[in-house]
Amino acid sequence: MLENKLGITDQIELAKAEEKLSKLKVKELFETGKINELEVGTFLGLSEIHHYLFSEIYTFAGKVRDVNIAKGNFRFAPVMYLRAALENIDQMPENNYEEIIEKYVEMNIAHPFREGNGRSMRIWLDLILKNNLGKVVDWSLVDKEDYLSAMERSPVNDLEIRFLLKEALTDKVDNREIFMKGIDTSYFYEGYMEYRVEEL
Ligand SMILES: Nc1ncnc2c1ncn2[C@@H]1O[C@H](COP(=O)(O)OP(=O)(O)O)[C@@H](O)[C@H]1O
Ligand SMILES: [Mg+2]
Repeated sequence: MLENKLGITDQIELAKAEEKLSKLKVKELFETGKINELEVGTFLGLSEIHHYLFSEIYTFAGKVRDVNIAKGNFRFAPVMYLRAALENIDQMPENNYEEIIEKYVEMNIAHPFREGNGRSMRIWLDLILKNNLGKVVDWSLVDKEDYLSAMERSPVNDLEIRFLLKEALTDKVDNREIFMKGIDTSYFYEGYMEYRVEEL
């Protein structure tokens, strides 16, 4: 279990507090318009998102991890190469949908933070799509199991994730309901479903 600023020692209690506090922050990010002031398509921008969401809960918010991590059989970028990987990702182009997905997949392989990569990276991806294509993903249209299996596959082949997210693109880029439902869906992928953003 992760050390946290709240002094919580129970895993279930921590998950609930994390969900509630960070969802309140996402809501604030949207409502204050600060979401539109973030740097788009760079690690700096991603770390701003991560810090905004999680700084009340974890001291590692926005910071590059200093431990190696894995999920399933996949080991994310080793700490030793992580900063170089992030510098390379910053330089990756965003000229079309395919390039943007490639960049997203590389950022997932980097997995820069100790926790909270998935949730912060989906906000980051939408900002890139919005900026370059005038579209965002309507996450409520993307099935959890399909998404997770496509991401698991993505380091080897990004065809599945490319196909899956393309089907869910919408041009309603500033639609509040799509955004809030998207956040709830994004949290649901990671097992957080105690609170709905709009009810907080
Ligand atoms: N086996 C895997 N291989 C590659 N990526 C994975 C794998 N399993 C999960 N992921 C990606 O990692 C994300 C979860 O990372 P994590 O840091 O735990 O984020 P969060 O705390 O927001 O759940 C998932 O949303 C998915 O995109
Ligand atoms: Mg997680």
